[in-house]
Parts: sequence; C-alpha cells; structure tokens
Amino acid sequence: MPASPRDQLRKSVRQQRRALSDHQQDLHAQSVAQQLSRHPLFLNASRIALYLAEDGEIDPAYLIHRAWKYKKQVYLPVLPPTGHALVFAPYHPGSRLITNRFGINEPNCHPSEWIRARQLNLILLPLVAFDEEMNRLGMGGGYYDRSLAFTRHRKQWHSPHLIGLAHECQKIEQLPCEPWDVPLNMIATERCLYDKKVIQE
Ligand SMILES: Nc1ncnc2c1ncn2[C@@H]1O[C@H](COP(=O)(O)OP(=O)(O)OP(=O)(O)O)[C@@H](O)[C@H]1O
Ligand SMILES: [Mg+2]
Repeated sequence: MPASPRDQLRKSVRQQRRALSDHQQDLHAQSVAQQLSRHPLFLNASRIALYLAEDGEIDPAYLIHRAWKYKKQVYLPVLPPTGHALVFAPYHPGSRLITNRFGINEPNCHPSEWIRARQLNLILLPLVAFDEEMNRLGMGGGYYDRSLAFTRHRKQWHSPHLIGLAHECQKIEQLPCEPWDVPLNMIATERCLYDKKVIQE
C-alpha cells in the first residue's frame, strides 16, 4: 500500500529533526525552556506532564529541572499494558525507569500512582509536525489523541492546557488533519510561542 500523505510528511520531518546537530538541539531546548518557564501556564501549573526526548524531539529536560526546582509535580506518559490511552506516572529526581514495548523509558512505579490526563494542569507534548492553526501530527499511534479526546468537547479551555514543543523545522504550512486530531493551545519553538497568532517574537 502506498504511504499516506501524513506518513510521507512524518518521514520527511523526522529526518530533518534527526539531522539537527547536538549543539542546535541544545540551543533549541534552552530557548524553549527560557520562554516557557516564565509563562503563566507553566508558572501556575502544579501538576505538569512532560516526556523523555526521542528521535530528535525537543528535549524538555531543562523544563523538568525547572519544574522540580519550583516544587511542581512532574509526570511522564506511560502506556498501560492494556488499553490504548496514556496514563501519567510521577517522575522525581532519581526515579527508576523501565523500557516499554515501544522502547521508551517510563517511571517504574506502582499503577496506584498513575493519574489520568484530566487530573493534570498542563501537558507538554512532543510532536512530529504542526501548523499555525495549532494542529498537531504525532508519531502515528493516536495515543495522545485518544487520551485527550475529552478536550474536544469543551467550549472553553481549562486544565489540562496543551502545549506542543517543536523545532521550527517541524512547522508546515497546512497540516492534513483528521477529525480525531486534538488541537493544541500553544506551540513553543526555539523562535517563538505560537498561539493561533504569533504572540511573542
Ligand atoms: N479518539 C480516538 N478514538 C479512537 N481512535 C482514535 C482516536 N484518536 C485517534 N485514533 C486512532 O489512532 C490512529 C492514529 O491517529 P493519528 O494518525 O492522528 O496519530 P498521531 O496524532 O500521529 O499520534 P499520537 O496521538 O500518538 O501523537 C488513527 O488510525 C485513529 O483511528
Ligand atoms: Mg493525531
């Protein structure tokens, strides 16, 4: 079967993302952390989900350390053994990690400690591509879309706020969207914060 336009896009943007040097990666990660760590959505959140970077994704490690410093509760996404929605596990300095079935590290904690997306104030999500309408293309599993589907029926935005983290090279003129794709509130790149319109240059 020929690759869909979304799959072709994923392949080409992932290649560009992986081609960034370690130095560029670090500069971008620092810039994103500087912009977001003084933003009210970050400052006012007490329970924040982030992720461990893979495949050239923007590394949120600076933000994780900032959140710990501010005594916020940090969570990482976990794929439960059954089901197709993410849950979120507490992540502390020194937390033990375990590798899931996709080769991604997760906190190795008891399931009783897991929380659901709606219990978070802020979720910082990785993405493969985005556009200025706040549309997001992920890795293709639909995991974030399924876990955040409840946000699509809300008339007003409240917790959890959703902020995508990306390199500028992941911006696409217009993303091919599907009805289940969950739009974001904001996207942070090394250049600026996108919020439907560019709010900070
Ligand atoms: N709310 C939902 N309920 C049921 N299936 C869903 C839902 N959201 C997405 N899916 C399924 O997930 C599959 C992948 O979706 P999609 O291509 O949008 O993934 P993605 O956004 O790239 O991945 P992710 O959400 O993990 O970042 C689709 O085939 C779709 O049918
Ligand atoms: Mg999607």
